[in-house]
Amino acid sequence: PMIHILNGPNLNLLGQREPEIYGAETLADVERLCAERAAGLGLATALFQSNHEGEIVEMIHRARSEAAGIIINPAAYTHTSVAILDALNAFDGPVLEVHISNVHKRESFRHHSYVSARAEGVIAGFGIQGYDLAVQRMAVLLG
Ligand code: DQA
Repeated sequence: PMIHILNGPNLNLLGQREPEIYGAETLADVERLCAERAAGLGLATALFQSNHEGEIVEMIHRARSEAAGIIINPAAYTHTSVAILDALNAFDGPVLEVHISNVHKRESFRHHSYVSARAEGVIAGFGIQGYDLAVQRMAVLLG
């Protein structure tokens, strides 16, 4: 089975952007980490990133025919996007939500997620290890 790992705005700058919050590792490191973990579990991963809300909606539409499950870090759109929630509601498989930082320790506007209403589980504050843990959980959910 294929898992799509979708990443929202500014995550292309992972490693350069506020490293005291998001760490020094890059999205390429996330991609490698997930691919290695998935291979050991008999899964495949494809990682995508966009800074545009509508493109993320279209990535979710593509996942309808290409992916058994979605791991998504919607970044700032987590806190604003009904469109991303609606797109995920049109996807049949399991959805896991990942945040690199502990959003609950930060500003109150980061405490609410539209996506959590659709997610089987949420990981926050585990750094990029959260993606690795999400791949492991996805293997259980797809098993
Ligand atoms: C984030 C948390 C969001 O609040 C923020 O807007 C991001 C990244 C995280 O991974 O910790 O861009 O989703």
